[in-house]
Amino acid sequence: MKLFIGIDLGTSAAKLLLVDGRGTIRREVTKEYPLSFPQPGWSEQDPAEWWRACTEGLRELLDGEDASLVAGIGCGGQMHGLVALDAQDEVIRPAILWNDGRTGEEVAYLNEVVGRETLSALTANIAFAGFTAPKLLWMKKHEPENFARIEKIMLPKDYVNYRLTGVHSCDFSDASGMLLLDVKNRRWSQEMLEICGIRESQMPRLFESFEPIGTLRPETAAQLGLPASVKVVAGAGDNAAAAVGTGVVGEGGCNLSLGTSGTLFISSDRFGVDPNNALHAFAHADGGYHLMGCMLSAASCNKWFCEEILHTDDYPAEQAGITREKLGRNRVFFLPYLMGERSPINDVDARGCFVGMSMDTTRADLTQAVLEGVAFAIRDSFEVARGIGIDIPRSKLCGGGAKSPLWRTIFANVLGIPLDMVKTEQGPGYGGAMLAMVGCGEYASVRDAADRLVELASATEPDPELTARYEERYRKFRAIYPAMKALFPKLL
Ligand code: XUL
Repeated sequence: MKLFIGIDLGTSAAKLLLVDGRGTIRREVTKEYPLSFPQPGWSEQDPAEWWRACTEGLRELLDGEDASLVAGIGCGGQMHGLVALDAQDEVIRPAILWNDGRTGEEVAYLNEVVGRETLSALTANIAFAGFTAPKLLWMKKHEPENFARIEKIMLPKDYVNYRLTGVHSCDFSDASGMLLLDVKNRRWSQEMLEICGIRESQMPRLFESFEPIGTLRPETAAQLGLPASVKVVAGAGDNAAAAVGTGVVGEGGCNLSLGTSGTLFISSDRFGVDPNNALHAFAHADGGYHLMGCMLSAASCNKWFCEEILHTDDYPAEQAGITREKLGRNRVFFLPYLMGERSPINDVDARGCFVGMSMDTTRADLTQAVLEGVAFAIRDSFEVARGIGIDIPRSKLCGGGAKSPLWRTIFANVLGIPLDMVKTEQGPGYGGAMLAMVGCGEYASVRDAADRLVELASATEPDPELTARYEERYRKFRAIYPAMKALFPKLL
């Protein structure tokens, strides 16, 4: 049976999966890499680290396997990161990542001077600090020599695909987050390229996520012990790939991802825009579209609180004391804006805070507040979706944070809907492998692959009493950010 490789090129690690054509995972390997914060609110990574993690990971993944059976590779990657290559295809500077907040001025220029309406008409979106176009403007202003050397711009997973195949490519789902794509018509926006001082020849070639961009470079194939005939598909942004992996394709599906970022992903066959642009309007990896709300720090808030503050990595032990009795009754609130926030408040200056502590506040109350704060912040994006008439009767849930039964319960009750987990809960990597299967002709379409490969494992149902308690707490949570908003810039 043919084998496929799915890569999740995440923010902290590359996770690689070896999957057979029936969707069974044979092996998985994780290779971590560092993330650097050179200044407060900045976030960078060296693309060489991604390539090192992928090549080491691929060799380990294939060790002892019959590599001649591998037919395709598909990658789901962290979105929006600016990777700039020079005329020799060398990386010009470290990639500026999706959760980097340095572009406040450029975002203000794009949204206020170019104007939200123009941006939305050209790209279906407005500017957010993590998007790629404001980073280009930042580089043009602050690093003109680097900017002048740019020959090709691409996104993180496209760099890995380039190293695998020698082809400069990008898929529509990931390209949507550059603010350079005319999302509706699936082509680069000439006007936006001009605004950013970029020529179309500097952009990669566009593909659907499931389309092969090429085969392995012969020398790379030899180095990895893979046949040179292995096809590499264009792949997708990690959220679109994760949605494929949980079967959220076509009209009316919803996926919640609780990774470093937290996202609400609503799939659709039709192009649609949030009239207020609070939700992103992007292309999907199945050939359709999606709306998405993205919070910058989700499971990473819990990781930060446990590891940096409490000095433990025993997450279940920290959550053990949080009984049903305590849910919806916590008097401490947590604003999860540790890297500023994207959806829906679009505020690079916002910061994390605990509010409402008293002498009887316990360590468990603070842990609970962190878990609840993330759920409330996702609910904010839910409310935006509801406000524009989107009905979300239930959702899939994936990502590292979804492994916690307590957090699943909190989410189901804060949102008031059932949350489904799928059997192969492997997020973007599994979706990447599915895209490779479609590209190699194993399945007729992404929908076909999802129908045949994705199975439900369990559902977390909301409980009317807890939902009512959380409704009351959410109303209080909603009042905190507006009261703090004006203060945040003064605290920097
Ligand atoms: C989505 C976003 C994040 C990253 C995380 O818009 O910025 O979800 O893709 O990897």
